[in-house]
Amino acid sequence: MILVMDFGGQYNQLIARRVRENNVYCEVHAATNFDKVRELKPEGIILTGGPQSVYATDSSLPPAELFKLGVPILGICYGAQAMAYVLGGTVKPARVSEYGKTDVEVVGASRLLNGVEKKSVAWMSHTDRIFDVPAGFAVTAASRDCPIAAMEDTTRNFYAVQFHPEVVHTVEGKKIFSNFVDICGCARDWKMSSFVADTVARLKAKISGGKVLCALSGGVDSSVAAALLSKAVGKNLTCVFVDHGLLRKDEASQVAEVFSGFDLNFIKVDAGERFLNKLRGVVEPERKRKIIGEEFIRVFEEVSKQIGAVDYLVQGTIYPDVIESGLGKAAVIKSHHNVGGLPDFVDFKEIVEPLRMLFKDEVRQAGRELGLPEQIVNRQPFPGPGLGIRIIGEVTAEKVALVQDADAIYREEVARAGVDKDLAQYFAALTNMRSVGVMGDGRTYDYAIALRAVLTSDFMTAEAAQIPWDVLSRAANRIVNEVKGVNRVLYDCTSKPPATIEFE
Ligand code: XMP
Repeated sequence: MILVMDFGGQYNQLIARRVRENNVYCEVHAATNFDKVRELKPEGIILTGGPQSVYATDSSLPPAELFKLGVPILGICYGAQAMAYVLGGTVKPARVSEYGKTDVEVVGASRLLNGVEKKSVAWMSHTDRIFDVPAGFAVTAASRDCPIAAMEDTTRNFYAVQFHPEVVHTVEGKKIFSNFVDICGCARDWKMSSFVADTVARLKAKISGGKVLCALSGGVDSSVAAALLSKAVGKNLTCVFVDHGLLRKDEASQVAEVFSGFDLNFIKVDAGERFLNKLRGVVEPERKRKIIGEEFIRVFEEVSKQIGAVDYLVQGTIYPDVIESGLGKAAVIKSHHNVGGLPDFVDFKEIVEPLRMLFKDEVRQAGRELGLPEQIVNRQPFPGPGLGIRIIGEVTAEKVALVQDADAIYREEVARAGVDKDLAQYFAALTNMRSVGVMGDGRTYDYAIALRAVLTSDFMTAEAAQIPWDVLSRAANRIVNEVKGVNRVLYDCTSKPPATIEFE
């Protein structure tokens, strides 16, 4: 396995994923957790990027001991600078900070960059840079403003890149990870089936005779989590599906129908009114998220009391939920439901999140391994707080109905045109904006619906999809004609970053 030591960069779990794509198991741990290195005995170590500067008094640095283990090490961005600094090189603020796609050139023989095109584009994001390499290192790549964009010491097997090979914009990124895996001598025999088998075994050992409650939303994540738990503890698992009234049109009944066919203790709770009451008058997105997250937990607590003693609560939290809620030193973007949204007091022994380290497409793969139907495995993601974060401003029953109807029409038209298979996520949101329109001979002053569709595989970055115009215009026509209270339809052309996929 390869161990990723996390210095707090936004995209650090992507590094683990790039390693796993090479069929090598990989885990991410806090950079300060040196015990993990001793415990896991990795075949290779990756030091990640992060927002710190090696010279700051409170910055985390890899211990010198790490470089005496005889294990290949790859430093990325801050990790590269930290490696240079600890081994005796110099790091200083760069005259020109680089951000974004940058031309990089291979400037010498390199094991890490073996087979990489001499000139290619890499993703840079730094203000410091390496000025002098430590003894034993050779410079292997350069950009215009960063003459030491990569360095290596092949005798000790230390490698460093200033750019981010984990980000898709680094054209040769995959090749670089593949080379590092070879340098580490990893066997490349890890598969998703190993993840499933290991996780089931681990859950079985951990939970043994305990009672488990699973929060099932009908989405891919919680369904895969439920299937894993059902394999591990069988009838000790109860799955609770909370209809918080913020689901897509007809979704609650569909989910109930699908899961009634499963070998689970399935309970559906109708809590729509309860959520709406809590959300009355609330407009601030983070507060809405926290309220919905907290109310969810309260409902679960109540149901679990009816079931009897419950030891564990299972949640289908996946990695992008974790990172965007702020892990380690990364900045908080949104409090994702059931992560940052958790209240302080939770009436369970422990929360189990078996998918916490996986990306969405990895979760789908695990779902297939577990034999879940394609209908569930391929379902587009739907956020825990549901339409609550697709209605900008206050949530009311009328607005929920409005966005449900508009969304159902949009999805129907996209699916009818066969475009849905190419899209990672697409939905309608209700802007809090009303504007003037004309219908028949009368003036209207109604809401604008925003349609969104994105292309992405990791959901950390996304591009706005180019939906064919005829599909958009058919959906728009139907929405203004069929959904009372809407007189305008807008299409969201923004990518992530700088926008996010959801509106709140
Ligand atoms: P954003 O809006 O952060 O969304 O770009 C990225 C992906 O995460 C989903 N999302 C959530 N999923 N709980 C979830 O389970 C949440 O609180 C949440 N917020 C956003 C979103 O639908 C997209 O797929």
